[in-house]
Amino acid sequence: MNNEHIIDEKKQGQSLHTEGKKSNTKKLFIESYGCQMNLNDSEIVAAIMEENGYNTTNLLEEADLVLVNTCAIREKAEQTVRKRLEKYNAIKKRINPTMKVGVLGCMAERLKEKFLEEEKIVDLVVGPDAYRDLPNLMTEVEAGRDAINVLLSRDETYADVSPVRLNSNGVSAFVSITRGCDNMCTFCVVPFTRGRERSRNPESIVSEIQELWDKGYKEVTLLGQNVDSYLWYGGGLKKDYKNATEAQKQNAVDFAMLLDKVAQQFPIMRFRFSTSNPQDMHLDVLHVMAKYKNICKYIHLPVQAGSTSMLKRMNRQHTREEYIALIDNIRKIIPECAISHDIIAGFCGETEEEHKETLSLMEYVKYDFGFMFAYSNRPGTPAAKRMEDDVPMDIKKRRLTEIINLQQVHGLYRMEQFVGKTVEVLIEGDSKKSAKHWKGRNSQNAVVIFEKTGNEAIGDFVDVKIDTCTSATLIGNRV
Ligand code: SAH
Ligand code: F3S
Repeated sequence: MNNEHIIDEKKQGQSLHTEGKKSNTKKLFIESYGCQMNLNDSEIVAAIMEENGYNTTNLLEEADLVLVNTCAIREKAEQTVRKRLEKYNAIKKRINPTMKVGVLGCMAERLKEKFLEEEKIVDLVVGPDAYRDLPNLMTEVEAGRDAINVLLSRDETYADVSPVRLNSNGVSAFVSITRGCDNMCTFCVVPFTRGRERSRNPESIVSEIQELWDKGYKEVTLLGQNVDSYLWYGGGLKKDYKNATEAQKQNAVDFAMLLDKVAQQFPIMRFRFSTSNPQDMHLDVLHVMAKYKNICKYIHLPVQAGSTSMLKRMNRQHTREEYIALIDNIRKIIPECAISHDIIAGFCGETEEEHKETLSLMEYVKYDFGFMFAYSNRPGTPAAKRMEDDVPMDIKKRRLTEIINLQQVHGLYRMEQFVGKTVEVLIEGDSKKSAKHWKGRNSQNAVVIFEKTGNEAIGDFVDVKIDTCTSATLIGNRV
């Protein structure tokens, strides 16, 4: 089993030694946990700090400032961050006594001042919408005072900040298009840590993609908690669109239009996007995907649970039947499309029947990939306030195992469909296991490993005939 379903414990990225600015004298070590959005936020933070005297380093021991971008989605994610803080503490004591430590991201937003009280090592606490304030906050820290800014914003999208690409292969990059989430799924802490939903100016999105293209990047993933809900009408919160002027409404850009625009303008660049919330994914997006070869045929479409009763308790705005209708439409409009899910096992009140409905939905869709979690009660969420976390841990775990095992069967089934076929692969780098092999992905987001011929390089698109597979990897040779 690959560990792809465990996303929160995994470090998403860590700063490399980048060129930076010659005149900068201070060193920043930054690392990110959790989602892709966090990694992209760290790239924005690195850019802000580069303008203010700090170049990044990959050596924790030599850092003047350590920033950890945190995840609060499940309890385990928070425990991982606490362990990292212990590690920084040890280094501070033994090697680098002047090192300052800052906590960014969702856990900073959730715990606020408590962080400064609970963790003596922490000098600085900054929420996801306050990164522009970092240079000011650092002045406080350098004067020996703790500093905190956890204000959430109505309009911050960091649209004008050009991210410093961290840990990059020089081929694929993330571009944020929306921030925040208005959905209030009852289990989820994100609306509390990342604030209300707002979209980024399409012109700034296009110019960031242009910059990436000019630097040789070949693949962009458009990011948001709910990308299909993207709506630019001149700025402001999504929920205030109803008050927009007629002119603003006429010139508004939705997700299908944005996707169409970037795919057309950058015909050789590959586009991906994540995450799609089923309630907001409409047919026009599917038609745009079908129209352009350079939009990857892959949709991450979290379902969370397979029964309408459970979806209702989760405050997801669709039924099982509506989700199935969407799946049918995807299969009809984009037959070759890969689909993946997020599923939570053992949410409040989950019955054995409801769990079986989750398994039967999986059976219907036969997802290509999946990210699967045991429910973790998050303080402050609607579920924590109003519902009981009443599924015993052993049952949660057993159900999760059943879901993971079924996903493995389906993953293998989907991978097997590629055997004997030729797929287009974007080369991302060496295979982890062998320097004689390349690793890349096909349009459907399957990892493809193939032997080097000496005639190709990172960033090339090549055709690979698939000879064999595992449940998570395709293996083949160039044709
Ligand atoms: N914006 C994304 C989800 C972000 S969180 C969306 O629209 O679906 C990523 C995943 O973490 C969620 O899809 C959900 O499956 C899982 N998750 C969120 N809160 C959780 C909790 N309290 N316990 C377990 N898993 C959770
Ligand atoms: Fe969370 Fe639901 Fe938004 S899972 S991020 S509240 S769509």
